[in-house]
Amino acid sequence: MSAFSSAQSPQSPAIVARLRASGCVFAEEEALLLAGAAATPDDLAAMVDRRVSGVPLEHVLGWAEFAGLRVAVEPGVFVPRRRTEFLVEQAAALAERRPRAVVVDLCCGCGAVGLAVAARAPSVELHAVDIDPGAVRCARRNLAEVGGRVYEGDLYRPLPAELKGRVAVVVANAPYVPTDSIGLMPPEAREHEPRVALDGGADGLDIVRKVIAPARGWLAPGGCVLVESGERQAPRVVEAFANGGLLPRVAASDELAATVVIGTMPT
Ligand SMILES: C[S@@+](CC[C@H](N)C(=O)[O-])C[C@H]1O[C@@H](n2cnc3c(N)ncnc32)[C@H](O)[C@@H]1O
Repeated sequence: MSAFSSAQSPQSPAIVARLRASGCVFAEEEALLLAGAAATPDDLAAMVDRRVSGVPLEHVLGWAEFAGLRVAVEPGVFVPRRRTEFLVEQAAALAERRPRAVVVDLCCGCGAVGLAVAARAPSVELHAVDIDPGAVRCARRNLAEVGGRVYEGDLYRPLPAELKGRVAVVVANAPYVPTDSIGLMPPEAREHEPRVALDGGADGLDIVRKVIAPARGWLAPGGCVLVESGERQAPRVVEAFANGGLLPRVAASDELAATVVIGTMPT
């Protein structure tokens, strides 16, 4: 027999109606997911309350689906976005070219990008960095299964020095929202994801430039840096790559509305 009465069941019109009234477009699907994650009717009621109050679904569930994987996401940690699957595709294609490629996921958040690259190119040696302790804790949970090492700190600073000159792929979905645009983001992002995960400074590219400028010192010959950006930011990212001595090119996906700029270390 189910632990849920008909009034609390996932198909309960009352739950679906509450979710829909709070703005959930996929209310039926969300109701099913919440019911699947709840151990008891009280749990379900508490989860629905949190969701209705505006907490992102992924934070309520404790996981996000990303690139076909289920990735743990704790409250207060950036929720990986579907468009970033394009960054993963591009990075995995480059990592696959070398056996046991060293891959560094900078600004790793919960580790979704590194995990998905390692799932596609299983022989990689994965290192991941984030400045936020909550993100680091989450990434350690997610990357344990692929043997990824996770460091807390500012960009390249916490990486072991022996990686210098050995990295095949640096992949970074760094914050790239211009400061003035943060207020225009949906409340789920503005209110439930940390500022450090979103704010990229005046033109959005402060952190991206700090990812690119020192990259030559870490890359192996022919190695690459891949960063996600907005479409209109791409020309400035190209310029940053050229200034950093890397050969830039832009890749874009209409389907995912995603832009990735790639800089390659000349051989
Ligand atoms: C847009 S989120 C992306 C997270 C993850 N890459 C993803 O796609 O799900 C940016 C992440 O960069 C981290 N971050 C911001 N500044 C950083 C810095 N200077 N060094 C390392 N990580 C940083 C934030 O804590 C946040 O987790």
